[in-house]
Amino acid sequence: MDLYQKVEEAYHFLRNQLKVVPEYAIVAGTGLSSLADEVSHATVIPYNSIPHFPKPTVEGHDGRMVFGILGGKNIVVLKGRFHYYEGYDMDEVTFHIRVLKMLGVAKLIITNASGSLNPNIYPGHIVFIKDHINMQPAHPLRGLNDARLGKRFPPMDRVYDSSMLEKALAIAKSETFEHHKGIYVGLQGPSLETPAEYSFYGRMGGDVVGMSTVPEVIVAAQCELPVLCISLCTNNPFDGEVATSIEEVLEVAEQAGNKIKKVISRFIQEY
Ligand code: HPA
Repeated sequence: MDLYQKVEEAYHFLRNQLKVVPEYAIVAGTGLSSLADEVSHATVIPYNSIPHFPKPTVEGHDGRMVFGILGGKNIVVLKGRFHYYEGYDMDEVTFHIRVLKMLGVAKLIITNASGSLNPNIYPGHIVFIKDHINMQPAHPLRGLNDARLGKRFPPMDRVYDSSMLEKALAIAKSETFEHHKGIYVGLQGPSLETPAEYSFYGRMGGDVVGMSTVPEVIVAAQCELPVLCISLCTNNPFDGEVATSIEEVLEVAEQAGNKIKKVISRFIQEY
């Protein structure tokens, strides 16, 4: 069975259970899956019931789709995503994006936790991603191209939708959250970076660094799904305090996640 047929099977399974197609899909990153608690009229579909869907293996990444209403619109929250470092191949890491596209989702909101590469970006700050640098070791579009899934050479110059980005920035400003526009460097992980690596990726042009998002965004670009990406900075190697640990990342993500939740629900309501 090829990738297109797998996506189709997952799509049919979901479509049969849904009365309406969601307008927005939100991929909830580390510490943000409680966004799904705010969804009303929820229909919960576990990943392990969906044909061909991978299962997340990481702490803080549940494995469910929550369909329902948020900010007055039909949406789906994906609680949990798939990372290359978990051992999945890139078709698996990005499978949910293709299924969402086939389902008819119109806009994608991607969230993640990230480490700072910019001395002005601190834990708890929100970074609206305007561009990325792909440093992951495999590419989700490698291999024979199936034109039913999208273009062979998708352009990448406008993948972070500028009108969604401007609206989200305006909301963050009106909420007085510390926020930035920035460039996300996507790495494989799962180890965090050495001091020399943080310094290198910062000088290379990045503002934040993380282990997800970029493959999803590349596939979204291929299937022409507009993306808003919101990153929560959880650690800053310049602050001279304790070394970055995954415990610290999860703690900050839990504490500051409310800001992203607020931005997302207002965004969906107002955009
Ligand atoms: N590096 C990579 N990924 C991350 C980090 C980091 O410092 N913080 C949260 N996700």
